[in-house]
Amino acid sequence: MRNKILKNKIASSAIRRRGGKGSIDVVVGLQWGDEGKGKNIDELLSHGIYSGVARFQGGANAGHTIKANGKTFIGHIIPSGCLQKDIELYIGNGVVVDAVSLIKEMRELEDLGFDVTPRLYISNRAKLVSYLHPFLDQADEYYRNKSSHKIGTTSRGIGPAYSDIRARRGLLLGDVLLPDFKEREENLRKFHHDFLNLYKEKHEFEIDEKKIEESKAKWWAAVEELKKLQICDLSFLVQKRLAEGKNILAEGAQAVMLDIDFGDYPNVTSSNTLPANVCLGLGIPHTVLRDIYGVTKAYTTKVGGGNFPARIKDQALEKAFQDAGHEFGATTGRPRMCGWLDLFALRHAIALSGVNKIFINKADICPINKGKNMKVVIGYKNNKKVLKEFPFYLNEVTSVITEEISGWGDSNHGVKNNKKVSKELRSYLNYIKRKLADLNVKIIAVGTGQDRDHFFNWEK
Ligand code: IMO
Ligand code: MG
Repeated sequence: MRNKILKNKIASSAIRRRGGKGSIDVVVGLQWGDEGKGKNIDELLSHGIYSGVARFQGGANAGHTIKANGKTFIGHIIPSGCLQKDIELYIGNGVVVDAVSLIKEMRELEDLGFDVTPRLYISNRAKLVSYLHPFLDQADEYYRNKSSHKIGTTSRGIGPAYSDIRARRGLLLGDVLLPDFKEREENLRKFHHDFLNLYKEKHEFEIDEKKIEESKAKWWAAVEELKKLQICDLSFLVQKRLAEGKNILAEGAQAVMLDIDFGDYPNVTSSNTLPANVCLGLGIPHTVLRDIYGVTKAYTTKVGGGNFPARIKDQALEKAFQDAGHEFGATTGRPRMCGWLDLFALRHAIALSGVNKIFINKADICPINKGKNMKVVIGYKNNKKVLKEFPFYLNEVTSVITEEISGWGDSNHGVKNNKKVSKELRSYLNYIKRKLADLNVKIIAVGTGQDRDHFFNWEK
């Protein structure tokens, strides 16, 4: 029988606490992204508890892989409930929408036998990524590389799209339906062109006019398709669903350590990734929020610039994690740096996000065999000084404090029954539990592979 994560408990507490009205549960990443959130979201949605799933921040910089019933789908902008026919898919006002990605993903889903058009709703207040935003993203990175260091963005135009919104010159998704959309777009295009020319004239940034023309044609074609979709006041729709007693899952992209305010600025993404942003990114009050699920891997990965204190120093061992865990970006294909589980960062992320339930993914990935020790980071140091608090900038960290615990090799792949878990992995999970004991969180399930049902339940 398939594992079901606390199905009855979830359903009954939802109804009790909200007096017959529905609630919103949230899933966020607790590390630097790529924790395997898509899999957990897809699994949670398969219980019949939620009627919809909503993206509330970020854009096509996310890469959420879902494997179910022999089908694999990598979504960047479409919410992870797409492989389940009864789930409504919402894209909230906090999201920056890449129209080309969205339409492409919808076609890919059609090929897999899922026509999501009737159940996809997009906020008219979502933000539109223009075809020049990715070029501006690249120009920014080019300039940063010359002056200091690159952030290592996904080149999806995320920073420029959010900047335009804050500067109040951006385009909203609902604008595509207005009669003067072409004029609005033309005003923004001129501004972007001037900006790009500045990078060219002052900093020798090469503008690839041919590529821009290609992107422009694709973008306008995608915008035409966008107009046919259900663009609505999503805040109103979500509130209506909650009033009908339906529960919704909010799907975080990126992760706590990439939050624009609380991550290692400027090596962060341009949105607030914390659960607090669910309210603003969907247009709902905080009183409807219930469970906050946090997702971590059994080890840590990171892509992009900035210090990565927990990084494994032995290059061959780092490569072994990379290969065993297929740690290559779903959005960019870049190899991800691999590190030990960073409990110091994890505790910080839990405190910031208020998660009460935790998924530990990729516990089957352990290139260190039983009897040999792996490390866990439990603290940071600045030279000889042990840091009591999470540092302002991560480059203050000069070394880490570690503890050692036995590895378990590849013995737990595909384990679905917690009685079959190897002794070493069991010790590791109990060790993590002890280290988080004061934070009031439960490790509810542990992932052992890519498929939806590759996990075992842990704490009740
Ligand atoms: P998911 O949802 C991992 C990282 C980039 C870069 C920084 C800023 O798959 O976990 P951006 O393009 O957002 O301006 O890049 O953030 N980054 C991610 N890293 N997973 C992601 O998403 C990421 N989205 C952005 O590598 O360091
Ligand atoms: Mg990713």
